[in-house]
Amino acid sequence: MDKIVALAKRRGFIYPSSEIYGGIAGFWDYGPLGAELKRNIKNEWWKTTVQLRDDVVGLDASIIMNPKVWEASGHLEAFTDPLVECRYCNKRLRADKPDELKEHEKTHPDHIANLWTTPKNFNLLTEVYLGVTEPKQKAYLRGEITQGVFVNFRNVVDSARVKIPFGIAQIGKAFRNEITPGNFTFRSREFEQMELEYFIKPDENDGKKTFEYWKKQRLDWYLSLGMKREKLRFADHEPEKRAHYARFATDIEYDAPFGWSEFEGIHHRGDWDLGRHKLTYRDPESGGEYTPWVIETSGGVDRAALFFLIEAYQEVDKRIVLQLHPKLAPMKAAVFPLVANKEELVAKARGVYQMLKLQYMVAWDDRGNIGKRYLSQDEIGTPWCVTIDYDTLKDDTVTVRNRDTTKQERVSIDSLTDYIAQKLV
Ligand code: GAP
Repeated sequence: MDKIVALAKRRGFIYPSSEIYGGIAGFWDYGPLGAELKRNIKNEWWKTTVQLRDDVVGLDASIIMNPKVWEASGHLEAFTDPLVECRYCNKRLRADKPDELKEHEKTHPDHIANLWTTPKNFNLLTEVYLGVTEPKQKAYLRGEITQGVFVNFRNVVDSARVKIPFGIAQIGKAFRNEITPGNFTFRSREFEQMELEYFIKPDENDGKKTFEYWKKQRLDWYLSLGMKREKLRFADHEPEKRAHYARFATDIEYDAPFGWSEFEGIHHRGDWDLGRHKLTYRDPESGGEYTPWVIETSGGVDRAALFFLIEAYQEVDKRIVLQLHPKLAPMKAAVFPLVANKEELVAKARGVYQMLKLQYMVAWDDRGNIGKRYLSQDEIGTPWCVTIDYDTLKDDTVTVRNRDTTKQERVSIDSLTDYIAQKLV
């Protein structure tokens, strides 16, 4: 983890938020490369979940909603973690994280017997205050992006020609006043979710089938982007661990350096949410009215960025190589003139760079020697480095060097855009 955190900072993937003022626990900023990585993750998710399907539409709801939403959804009452306080040093930890408690107990070996207070439920919703006159109106930053989908259920049905079964997908920020943010971005107080709420008829068999279907879809999506099967597993929630809205639930977990950790949640929410918001669906064929059931897939964009970074990190012959899937790589290619002081070479390379930039994020580097430039691009996961040399001036071909094999091949400038496009399908 130390190596990942250091690389993320040094190369501009992830910085501590407001670092010049000492940072703030649970908040992170994404630098130039991190912003690209996150955008690529979100684009791939949106493409698979919305663009390529006929039964899913997108939504972009507001972060702050009428507080009645959170009352109806049960979050004001039940969106809690059990909090205990160390009687010795007042540190607050989660009672449901035995490893973290044990770690802390090591700091007070003589007081373990009576160290912790009785667990109290601590609500994770973040309060905000709106308006100009006192008392200001209390509202909440959304604790899950999901409720924005449910409260728009009728709007979408009335405006988008959708029929059950269908899904509503959304990507956006969520906020939780986590008691113990930690493990780098893994448990943050501000994070981004990518979620699908898939509405079905209320039917036990169909519910189970749809749940299994989405489990497989989501696992396959991670595998298609380079996750290794043995680093992922499903972990069903025991009844006492389930969220208040879930009939049953499973997590996709990742084998992180800090242990198996939740990557994405897949929940059978039944009719909990639409029922609480008193929303129903009228079947256009039969005219019958019912409260649909919901199967939800809820992934974290920040966790995906972190776990894809960890998974991609390799040290090969003393060089760091981020073997990110090309679709996720922040830069698809880097363009180099062989030397920086030959005007003709630089002008030719600039032309290639401008051409590729029309389609892809592309880096430019003319510093140092070619070997150093390769090392620098390997560290940020750039799949292809394109060098313009003296032969280019004669025959309009360039050298393309592959990040993972380090093999080089000659490619004509005319076919370079397609060369990259074919590898990104
Ligand atoms: N709508 C359902 C829901 O929010 P969840 O299991 O609480 O379910 C879903 O969260 C996903 O959101 C998690 O699997 C994780 O990827 C991400 N997530 C949740 N809390 C997080 C946090 N504090 N920091 C970063 N990501 C978080």
